Amino acid sequence: MEYERKVIETADGSKTLFVPAMNEQYHSLNGALTESDYVFLEKGFRRHPSQTPKVFEVGFGTGLNALLTALEAEKSMRTTYYATIEKYPISNEEIQYLNYGNLLSPRANEIFHAIHKADWEKDVQISEFFVLNKIKADLKTCTFRNDNFFDLVFFDAFGPDKQPEMWQDKVMSKIFQLCSGGAIFVTYSAKGEIRRRMEASGFRMERLPGPPGKRQMLRGSK
Ligand SMILES: C[S@@+](CC[C@H](N)C(=O)[O-])C[C@H]1O[C@@H](n2cnc3c(N)ncnc32)[C@H](O)[C@@H]1O
Repeated sequence: MEYERKVIETADGSKTLFVPAMNEQYHSLNGALTESDYVFLEKGFRRHPSQTPKVFEVGFGTGLNALLTALEAEKSMRTTYYATIEKYPISNEEIQYLNYGNLLSPRANEIFHAIHKADWEKDVQISEFFVLNKIKADLKTCTFRNDNFFDLVFFDAFGPDKQPEMWQDKVMSKIFQLCSGGAIFVTYSAKGEIRRRMEASGFRMERLPGPPGKRQMLRGSK
C-alpha cells in the first residue's frame, strides 16, 4: 500500500514527512536532523571501531541517515558500505522539499542529491568513502545472502505501535543473522517489549538516554 505523505518542519528547522493515515512521521518532531545524528551517528556509527564499516538501514525514507553517514564517513575517512531497504520510495517532488543539504553545507547538498539519484539494487560509489546500495523490497518477506556481514544496523522503521509487523521476532532474527560479531544495532524505540524481543533474537541490549523529547532509546550488540 502506498500512502499519502506531507512535508512538515520539525523543531530544529529540518523537514520530515508526515503520514496522515498512520498519524506518524518519519522523524521526531523535536528535530529530524538532531534525532538522526544522535540515535544513528552518535550512538551507532561513531561507536563502532571498524575503519571499513558496513551499515544496514531499515527504512531509507528521506535519505537523511544515509546523508549523515556519508558525511561522517568522509570526515573520519572510514570507507563505508551502506545498504538500505525501502518498500515505498519517496517522490522527486518530495525530495525537493527536504532541506537537509541547505541546512548543513553545499557538500551535503551535493551528496544528498547523489544519494537520491543513485540507481536501486546496485552498489553506487557516492564519494571516495561511501558506497550505497538501495534495495527496493519489503523487509518482512525479502531474503538476504549476506549472513554475518553488517557491522551496524540502523533500525528506523515506523514505530512498533504503528507498524508492529516490522518489529516481529521473525524480522529481528533475520536482522541478527545479517550482523557480524561485535555489530551494533540502534533504534529510537525504547519499548520494553522490543528490548525483550531483541534479546530473544540474540542481541545484548542496553537502554541509553534518548534524543531531545525522548527519555530513552535502545542499542544492541551481537
Ligand atoms: C521512520 S521512516 C524512515 C526514516 C528514514 N530512515 C529517514 O531518514 O527518512 C520508516 C520507513 O520504512 C519504510 N517501510 C515501511 N514498511 C516497510 C517494509 N515492509 N519494508 C521496507 N521498508 C518499509 C517506510 O516507507 C519509511 O520510509
